[in-house]
Amino acid sequence: MSRLRAAALAVAAILVPFAAEAAEQVNVYTYRETKLVQPLFDAFTKDTGIAVNVISASSGLEQRIKAEGADSPADVLLTVDIGRIDDAVAAGISQPINSAVIDEIVPAQFRDPNGHWAGISMRARVIYASKDRVKQEAITYEELADPKWKGKICIRSGQHIYNNALFAAYVAKHGEAKAEEWLRGLKANLAQKPSGGDRETARDVAAGKCDLGIGNTYYWALMLKDPDKKAWADATKVILPTFEGGGTHVNLSGVLLTKNAPNKASAVKLIEWLAGEKAQQIYADANYEYPIRAGVALNPVIASYGKLKPDPLPIAKIAANRKAAATLVDKVGFDN
Ligand SMILES: [Fe+2]
Repeated sequence: MSRLRAAALAVAAILVPFAAEAAEQVNVYTYRETKLVQPLFDAFTKDTGIAVNVISASSGLEQRIKAEGADSPADVLLTVDIGRIDDAVAAGISQPINSAVIDEIVPAQFRDPNGHWAGISMRARVIYASKDRVKQEAITYEELADPKWKGKICIRSGQHIYNNALFAAYVAKHGEAKAEEWLRGLKANLAQKPSGGDRETARDVAAGKCDLGIGNTYYWALMLKDPDKKAWADATKVILPTFEGGGTHVNLSGVLLTKNAPNKASAVKLIEWLAGEKAQQIYADANYEYPIRAGVALNPVIASYGKLKPDPLPIAKIAANRKAAATLVDKVGFDN
């Protein structure tokens, strides 16, 4: 090897790491499972050339971002549920996204009025009803407290974030006194102490322990393709409940731009890309979620539930009643 070529290689060896650092990148902290979000990030990198570095965890990400402070590498936090989104904003780790693209694509009810978060996909909280024992095809959330369902309803803990959001929506709509009465009625209709997860409510309906289970839309689709749980889906039908005079309670997976995002421009690009057609189709097909963007085809299993009419209550109003809902759950001894 000539000395010149050796020198050139040595320079290249030094430059490569710098080149890698100089390339555009974005750092994502996520509560979503890597297998769900990696296909999205791969497609984003392919489209834009921007590398995505992912840190995934099941808890504590906002505390971590807070602890990292001004040195935090996090640009974007991807999270699921109104409760977690709300906690992240309350932890002071976010800043307004300020994107006309997001404001145009994401309906106002699914965005923070202050711009700190945006919904990227939706899930609805619905009924898994026994195919054999439940004849009706429509139901209201209010009706779940009707004594006609006494001993027939299965649900997970009233303090789980999914139920907390549903109950908070009830408080936002009807006020605390009515919500308390409703929770007492629902509690009186339970077949068993709140337990398990959403899939287990379908399992218990399939086993005849209850006629109505409460669960999220994507779990039913996941059970259908899981050989171990397909029987639970087969024994049940999904009913999209509505609030009286309203629609079906939906919750969000959402995105936040971190307060100290070191790669802010790339982060906003990623956030906007996630609301784009390609990403929204991936959310719909791979995650069995409802796209936040209009005009994207639903996964056929999700479409089979019937047409979703999301309740028009702004998500921020639901978030504002989380604490009241949690207090009522304790007050009525819902989980006891
Ligand atoms: Fe879930």
